[in-house]
Amino acid sequence: MNPQAEKLNQLIREINPSVFDLLSYRGRNIFFPTKGLVKQGLDAKGKKINASIGMAMEDDGSPLRLKAIDNKLNLPPEETFPYASSYGKNELRDIWKEIIREKNPTLGKHPISRPVVTNALTHGLSICGYLFVNEGDKIIMPDLFWGNYKLLFENAYGGQLEHFPLFSGQNFNTEGLKERLNSPGMKKIVLLNFPNNPTGYTPTEIEVQEITTIINDAAENGKKIVLLTDDAYFGLVYEPGIYRESIFSPMANLHKNVLAVKVDGATKEDYAWGFRVGFITFSNKLMNDEMARCLEDKAAGAVRGNVSNCPHLSQSLLLTAYNSPDYKEDKERKVKLLKSRYEKVKEVVLGKYINSEYFDIVPNNSGYFMCLKLKGIDAEEVRQVLLNKYDTGIMAIGDLIRVAYSSLATDLIELLFENIQNACHDVKKGNY
Ligand SMILES: Cc1ncc(COP(=O)(O)O)c(C=O)c1O
Repeated sequence: MNPQAEKLNQLIREINPSVFDLLSYRGRNIFFPTKGLVKQGLDAKGKKINASIGMAMEDDGSPLRLKAIDNKLNLPPEETFPYASSYGKNELRDIWKEIIREKNPTLGKHPISRPVVTNALTHGLSICGYLFVNEGDKIIMPDLFWGNYKLLFENAYGGQLEHFPLFSGQNFNTEGLKERLNSPGMKKIVLLNFPNNPTGYTPTEIEVQEITTIINDAAENGKKIVLLTDDAYFGLVYEPGIYRESIFSPMANLHKNVLAVKVDGATKEDYAWGFRVGFITFSNKLMNDEMARCLEDKAAGAVRGNVSNCPHLSQSLLLTAYNSPDYKEDKERKVKLLKSRYEKVKEVVLGKYINSEYFDIVPNNSGYFMCLKLKGIDAEEVRQVLLNKYDTGIMAIGDLIRVAYSSLATDLIELLFENIQNACHDVKKGNY
């Protein structure tokens, strides 16, 4: 093992051996190289003659660049063309950390790491796989989940998704989580994604208290738990009584055996899908600056060995947004727009389809989506009929139809559900 990795491991072990125990083999081996090329590049920064790094410069020392690109950008070339650090732009990391605290007030002053920038959330989750998942490790999560988790954790790292039913009746299935968590084995990896894709469900405040107790009890019983939160749709909560913070908040300071890992970013909550900027942030009961730095080094090392670093242009654009006095107000307007679509969906489905003979409405209160659970009708067949006969696209996931009302003008919502109802009728009658 590289001595730099060994050093990080030793520090982590000294502060909290449970955190070390949660690292995968890859996670134990990774480090951010502070010697070698990166170090030499940093040493040369600011020197009159810098012939060290693999970039090209104009004669005036600014980044060498093509006019066709430069003409489109009104940010300084130094903020867009050069490589960003593998950790991400420091100003962006710091402002995002502040934003996390602001949006999750119950974190209080409890230490959290400085967020490391990832190539959006998919990559942040992949870094979690890298750091924590060994071949054969199970990743506990609800049975309704973002399908890409399979490629992310199973194909890439040899993990195995282990599901529990998301719902018990109309509520979050806390017992299902408890059962999975208390199954044999001391290391547990749990992934929770709220607002959930595909259902658009976020647990209530009471359910989150129950989840927190379950995790704490398991940790008390000696389980070592890495609790990953996929906060892709953070902030889009439309009903009272629904938990508004990330589940990272109650986990951060819960128990020394619980390592909380927050994966979040601009993609969905700042409507910047193609920018590819996300973050990974750690916390633990015994978190201090040193442990934070060790985990940041490991995450940044994994980023470096994976995609080297993340888009500088996108990071700079987002930094501009987060520093803009209009940011919060503008964002609030967009949340209101999505909420108004949610309300329209609610009005339509509760008004007309609550007793549909073709589908049940899956509990939802947040996010981009809602689902209909078909009653003995094939969802893929319904999808085909919707495409071919009704000029309508939805997602078919098992026996669910997922409706992304986030992407639909409000005045089309009524027609969408009418089309779904009609397509279900057609499929049931074999009439298409
Ligand atoms: C639950 C969830 N997590 C993560 C992602 C991926 O986000 P990103 O585009 O930032 O990689 C998605 C995208 O659909 C998602 O639904």
